[in-house]
Amino acid sequence: MRKKHVLGNWKMNFTVAEAEAVLNEFLSEKAPVDAVQVGFAPGFLGVGSVVGGLRGTSVWAGAQDCFWADKGAFTGCVSVPMLVDAGVDFCIVGHSERRGRFGKLETPESTIPYFAESDETVNLKTKVLLAKGIRPVVCVGETLTEREDGHTDSTIIRQIQGGLTGIDKADAQKLLIAYEPVWAIGTGKVCDAEEANRICALIRSALASIFDAETASGIPVLYGGSVKASNAVELFAKSDIDGGLVGGASMVASELAEIIRAASRV
Ligand code: PGA
Repeated sequence: MRKKHVLGNWKMNFTVAEAEAVLNEFLSEKAPVDAVQVGFAPGFLGVGSVVGGLRGTSVWAGAQDCFWADKGAFTGCVSVPMLVDAGVDFCIVGHSERRGRFGKLETPESTIPYFAESDETVNLKTKVLLAKGIRPVVCVGETLTEREDGHTDSTIIRQIQGGLTGIDKADAQKLLIAYEPVWAIGTGKVCDAEEANRICALIRSALASIFDAETASGIPVLYGGSVKASNAVELFAKSDIDGGLVGGASMVASELAEIIRAASRV
């Protein structure tokens, strides 16, 4: 059976001192972090502190993004070698808050795309992370318009195929995927557990056709979008949902600990 993963995405919240306080509070909760693979992705400035705070534990420290070039004139970017140097275990790639559609900026009618991440840039970042030994957490998900127009499945498959082009099977074992329907992120609208499970299974079959069934069956596919202690058991009990990428609820130590306890029980 695949191990459950619960990864916290702190987004652009918390100063370093605040991140340290929440992490310490979380550690004092004594959540079952050996039964469940837990991780935290703070903002870049908090990474060093979180890596230090987690030393000696099995909990991963993560980053929320990276750039694909090793170094150079890329003002404001953080490279994968910098993340390796900082001691990062995983890195979120292609989060919907960073994706544009087809690499173009959209009108900011909603939460989305300030940064024009595309399947192509997701692929570049994913390949560099794998080459340097950091686990990519590749995010995919449809917007409300895509869902309403009946394009959910084709969007997910396009993002998986585009994001994972040119990756070999051996490297694929280090991958994680997060299904995050855009309309469910930070909105309080959780995707129905059956439907989330259906899409996670669709992702796994897309992974099987890119790699093979055995490789696909080892890749954790998480759900993200308004995961809370109150809905975690129902979601995580589903056969193809291997845990959660948790935003808002990961900022409250006791809530996150409950979500991890839920993951350890199913
Ligand atoms: P949310 O965010 O849990 O606040 O909906 C999830 C995410 O964006 O990864």
